[in-house]
Amino acid sequence: LARGVTEPDLQGRHVVVSAGGTREPLDPVRFLGNRSSGKQGYALARTAAARGARVTLVSANAGLPDPAGVDVVRVGTAVQLREAVLKAAADADAVVMAAAVADFRPAVYAIGKIKKRDGQDPDPIVLVRNPDILAELSADRARPGQVVVGFAAETDDVLANGRAKLARKGCDLLVVNEVGEARTFGSEENEAVILGADGSETPVPHGPKEALADTVWDLVVRRLA
Ligand code: CTP
Ligand code: CA
Repeated sequence: LARGVTEPDLQGRHVVVSAGGTREPLDPVRFLGNRSSGKQGYALARTAAARGARVTLVSANAGLPDPAGVDVVRVGTAVQLREAVLKAAADADAVVMAAAVADFRPAVYAIGKIKKRDGQDPDPIVLVRNPDILAELSADRARPGQVVVGFAAETDDVLANGRAKLARKGCDLLVVNEVGEARTFGSEENEAVILGADGSETPVPHGPKEALADTVWDLVVRRLA
């Protein structure tokens, strides 16, 4: 069992975790992406499995080994991630959106590699909005009482931005990280505050991503009971 956990309190539960970062292709060799390593999502999947849950991990470009005892579904783009998460969420008790989902994707995909042309400026890249998966999951719960958790990385006014985002998304819990250059991205450690739709605020001190993951599951278990 995970650190500090004395009973398999997710036994008999199905949880879905998304992890990594989506990549939105421009042409066969290029994409728009982000810096998410996937480590926090994988820590959530591992700790949920350690607490007895059946876990579906929807992994976007994480490049990490499959955690033992976890069903891993690999995806590339936001549209693919949406499809895989909604499918897995149909019978899930909880869904945690730890993936960094690209907000926009190129409006057109070039079937052939985009080439330079002598003496010409490049064409601008036109973007369109991707679906907001967390907002959709929160608005149309696949099951009554399903617990939906989001993540947010903010740079300033962390708490105020987090509260506004929680309300906008309609999820039950929002894990808010403060990000800076060296923090969070690719690192082994994390520091966060978890905001609840019930007004609660749970600070999580700087520590391993497993510890933050276990605190998320503690709060989820309380809401499932
Ligand atoms: N998310 C999502 N679908 C999107 C964008 C984000 O499901 N198209 C989820 C992320 O997985 C995360 C949460 O929403 O759990 C918050 O992501 P964030 O990028 O902070 O929120 P946005 O609404 O995109 O706000 P911002 O404009 O600050 O990027
Ligand atoms: Ca975003």
